[in-house]
Amino acid sequence: MTARFTMDETQPRLLDETAQGVIHEPMDRPEGRLKVTGCARYAAEHVLEGMAEGVLVRARVGRGRVSCADEEAVRAMPGVLGVYSDSRMLQVPAHGGAGTAPAQGPDEVRYFGQPVALVVAETPQQARHAAEALQVTYEEEPGDFDPDAAGTVDRPDKRALDQGDLDQAMAGAHRTVDVTCTTAPQHAAAMEPHAAVAVWEGDRLTLHGTLQMLKHNRAELADALGVAEEQVRILSPHVGGGFGSKLGISAESVAAALAARALGRPVRVVMSRQQVFETTTHRTATRQRIRLAADADGRLTAIGHEDRVYNLPGNAFSEPTAQSTHFLYAGENRRMAQEVARVNRACTGAVRAPGEAVGMLALEGAMDEMAEALGLDPIAFRKRNIPQRHPETGQPYSARALAGCMDDGARRFGWEARDPRPAQRREGEWWIGIGMAAAARVNLVSPSRARVTLREDGSALVETDMTDIGTGTYAILNQIAAEMLGLSPARVEVRLGDTDLPPASGSGGSMGASSAGSSVFVACRALRKTVAGRLGCHEHELTLKDGTATCANRRARLHELAASGALSEEGEFRPGTTKKQVSQASYGAFFAEVAVNGVTGETRVRRMDGTFAAGRILNEKTARSQCQGGMIWGIGAALTEEMVFDPRDGHVVNRDLAGYHIPVNADAPPIGVTFLEERDDHACPIQSKGVGELGISGAGAAILNAIYNATGLRLRDYPVRPEAILSDT
Ligand code: MOS
Repeated sequence: MTARFTMDETQPRLLDETAQGVIHEPMDRPEGRLKVTGCARYAAEHVLEGMAEGVLVRARVGRGRVSCADEEAVRAMPGVLGVYSDSRMLQVPAHGGAGTAPAQGPDEVRYFGQPVALVVAETPQQARHAAEALQVTYEEEPGDFDPDAAGTVDRPDKRALDQGDLDQAMAGAHRTVDVTCTTAPQHAAAMEPHAAVAVWEGDRLTLHGTLQMLKHNRAELADALGVAEEQVRILSPHVGGGFGSKLGISAESVAAALAARALGRPVRVVMSRQQVFETTTHRTATRQRIRLAADADGRLTAIGHEDRVYNLPGNAFSEPTAQSTHFLYAGENRRMAQEVARVNRACTGAVRAPGEAVGMLALEGAMDEMAEALGLDPIAFRKRNIPQRHPETGQPYSARALAGCMDDGARRFGWEARDPRPAQRREGEWWIGIGMAAAARVNLVSPSRARVTLREDGSALVETDMTDIGTGTYAILNQIAAEMLGLSPARVEVRLGDTDLPPASGSGGSMGASSAGSSVFVACRALRKTVAGRLGCHEHELTLKDGTATCANRRARLHELAASGALSEEGEFRPGTTKKQVSQASYGAFFAEVAVNGVTGETRVRRMDGTFAAGRILNEKTARSQCQGGMIWGIGAALTEEMVFDPRDGHVVNRDLAGYHIPVNADAPPIGVTFLEERDDHACPIQSKGVGELGISGAGAAILNAIYNATGLRLRDYPVRPEAILSDT
């Protein structure tokens, strides 16, 4: 049976009334031991009987046509089983909900590194050798490699807003800020490279992949292969990070499946780190102009946020840069607009907190500048501009603890001791400063299903095609079921990452915990009704704890109630229309202390703190890890991370983890994370909101604001390199 729940009304806070007491607890990941002992098998670790190895061949020109690939010479090489240059392998992959594959000629090369063929051999070494030996000739065409000088620029209507009169508000303001900020292209750089192992049994494909949203990925893969969805099964029980780069299928999945079908053998395709950088989606660079106007009371009268991003021609995705600017601060005159430069670089797509991750950097830097122009404390200025209602739609807000997070974080960080005048603290060569920024990230939910079974032995099984991309899905779904059914977490088993299981939201946009979690909640609630019925009472009278059901003077063990046969319920969560009625987001505040070396220009982050409110926190440990991770991305955005593209042909220059600088342990100071107690009744029936992307959404701005406080340098180009500090001193 399927129990359905549509989020159209406020729900009782059932998880505050249950008795087990495991929800919110910082429970270890149930699969943690498997991971640290190497027993959790990732896609590339599958070794199947008779498996052949495929290596993708990537285009060595930035734009043009494949005129000839000398397949014959390569076919004669040792171990080579096949060379495939099926045009479907050349297609830019669609990615789940984030864009569609533009139409493309079969031999067309649109960016440097685009897969143009797959070479399959008996061993990985033979396949790689042959792939490197494959002579491909191209008819090269001139490309657009510079986003600032691109020949084609689109202006999507969905990103445009013109409310009131921004120019007039700027002209008549007490204080104005008009600044341009840039952010660098970034790569998700997930630890686990993209990989697929494909095996056909008759006309049915099983793909061991590393993907975030299986129900969408199955549809994409079926579409790419020209088969029915029912013929495709994807298994992705463990994913070593995705951050958006695995939202949709990539070339390795399609290539492995096509080659396996052609060869009649299982085929494994694993991208090298260089291929991941060259071929999978990355985050666009941005150029953002922020305009703010304020009156003498420090109230914003206008906000302008115009940005320029890039993507391949025809690709529907564009970074929603101003996403949180729409709802975060007051100001009746508002203008947002976007330009999408069409360039020959690999597809841009969603990377952790698409929109806020870069948009908040510009906005929160400009807010710091305006606070200073007004002579106001940055927190006081922000609090003064928290709107009563959504300044564009008029919607009320659901739970919103922005002011609380700023106050609480300020207290913990020692904000009071900050001297607002820049360049006042010095320790030898080092200038010391502190800064803050607000955190905000829209809250998303999406339809999700799960099956929960109360087995004859009184234990529970949770099944859904939901993924755990390192976020803690196994833990939180376990805790929700354990809490609802009154079981110790050890008595709950969670199976994920298999398209044969009920289809979930998938992991993306920080919606997984709330969406998939709600489906488990709905299924468990139906089971509680059944249990109450068997005990002869109403569900509201029922207490479930440690495997025992109690109501009034009746009492039974769960395994007794399920003795005549396992009880199984499927739960379905649907978002409904609540999202349209209320503005929902997670909020927070970042604080950073930096030391900037006046001789070398080096910036070290000495301390960093984040205080967040994201509804009910389902697992305090996994949520904290998400926020810490997000803040480390913030350090990367502020100081180290930048993909560099060669202006001559668009190739990625720093296409490995030696050249693409992710902050390492030595770059990351102790990072404090605090969650405020919150329930969001409008978000979902478990009152939680997205937390995975919240920790990055504004984090880097706190660091640049701290650099200003340390040095008096207003830097607006991310990342800040030592030479930017030195050139100004
Ligand atoms: Mo996320 S960038 O939607 O994985």
